[in-house]
Amino acid sequence: MEVPKLLRAWVLAVMALGESQPTLPNHHVLPNHRVSSETGAIFVHELERELFQDAFLTGHEDDGAAPITFQAHLQDHPDLPRWLRYIQRDPHQPGYLYGCPMATEVGTHTIEVLAYNRHTYETAAQHLVITIFPAPGGEPPYQGEFLVGNRNVEELLPAAMRDIFLQATAGVWERDDLHVINVTSTLDRGGRVPLPIEGRKEGVYVKVGSRGAFSSCLAAATSPQSRFRCSLGQQPLASCYDTFAPHFTIRWCNLTLLQVWPSPTALGPVWGSGVLEEGGDFQPPTEVPPQDLLPGYLVTLLVPLAVAALLCLLLGHLMCCRREGVQKRDLETSDIQLVHHTTIHGDTEELRHMARSRDVPRPLSTLPMFNIRTGQRINPMPGPPDGACVPLLPQ
Ligand SMILES: *[C@@H]1O[C@H](CO)[C@@H](O)[C@H](O)[C@H]1NC(C)=O
Ligand SMILES: *[C@@H]1O[C@H](CO)[C@@H](O)[C@H](O)[C@H]1NC(C)=O
Repeated sequence: MEVPKLLRAWVLAVMALGESQPTLPNHHVLPNHRVSSETGAIFVHELERELFQDAFLTGHEDDGAAPITFQAHLQDHPDLPRWLRYIQRDPHQPGYLYGCPMATEVGTHTIEVLAYNRHTYETAAQHLVITIFPAPGGEPPYQGEFLVGNRNVEELLPAAMRDIFLQATAGVWERDDLHVINVTSTLDRGGRVPLPIEGRKEGVYVKVGSRGAFSSCLAAATSPQSRFRCSLGQQPLASCYDTFAPHFTIRWCNLTLLQVWPSPTALGPVWGSGVLEEGGDFQPPTEVPPQDLLPGYLVTLLVPLAVAALLCLLLGHLMCCRREGVQKRDLETSDIQLVHHTTIHGDTEELRHMARSRDVPRPLSTLPMFNIRTGQRINPMPGPPDGACVPLLPQ
């Protein structure tokens, strides 16, 4: 009885202590942020430092310079979904969530973002609700992947930089519907972290898609002659002016051109957002016309029944009419028993008689008082008339 009381008192004391001296730093919750994106196109969300900076309501002097780090994961899961990546180069720079959602990612993904102020240890949480819609036209059939040697992945993620890149791409691939499909750091493809020398960058792959065919310039850069020159360490055949320079250093030998055929799965059912539109009522699917189930029912029921009846008849016939010894059927049961009895009795008598008349000695084991272990035999048959002299336990 004493222990629970003590425990209760202790818990109350600890709670009172906690109320008077809050030891946990402040935790702020930001309103949800909703974004939407299409499949087959790069999705980029910038984790702005300023937004979380405002949430940390402290009167810290060097407010703008406080280092902030982020942690992002799928709600109720420990990690990000497979298609989404996170990068932040430095606590003084924004973080980015980026990736290319595919048809399997259509739907809503809720990402929990947690920001830490590394000076005050305050935290701020925000829910990022990403809705992925299927691209109306499906996947672009023509895709080219450029390796930019003088950039890090986060430099190509801001929309402004992607636009500059697309303008440069339009110079060599004369199309106006170019869009960025994917951005990947070379580190994610087995590349090496560059030496910490000024100006050295990891390198980044940028995949650009279009509905129109590749220009002759791009085709020439991936021709067998160009590949041969690349294998010799030379630049590929240049049939056009490199409009990427000097912003982007394209490694022309690593250019990949891809022609994607529309997959038959694109013709499947159209995915909605999963949310009923405003004012729209749920329309249940139209009624299925009633089908005539009687033939199926009859076949399922009658065929096994008929087979069972046939088998019954066959078995009955075999049991009743085809039995052996039918002619003796009129013999009464008691007569049969009597015949059996007399036969057994006669046979036994005959056997006994035969056993008595044979002149070989009886087997030892059939004689009484036979010691199984020693084989010693005390034959009581010709024994003395006084049976009391026979030892009960033979030595
Ligand atoms: C985008 O790039 C990432 C990293 O290389 C890769 O895992 C993913 O499959 C790519 N997605 C598409 C649609 O190309
Ligand atoms: C670029 O291509 C060359 C061969 O053409 C290859 O050796 C090199 O590893 C590639 N670089 C990257 C970063 O993929």
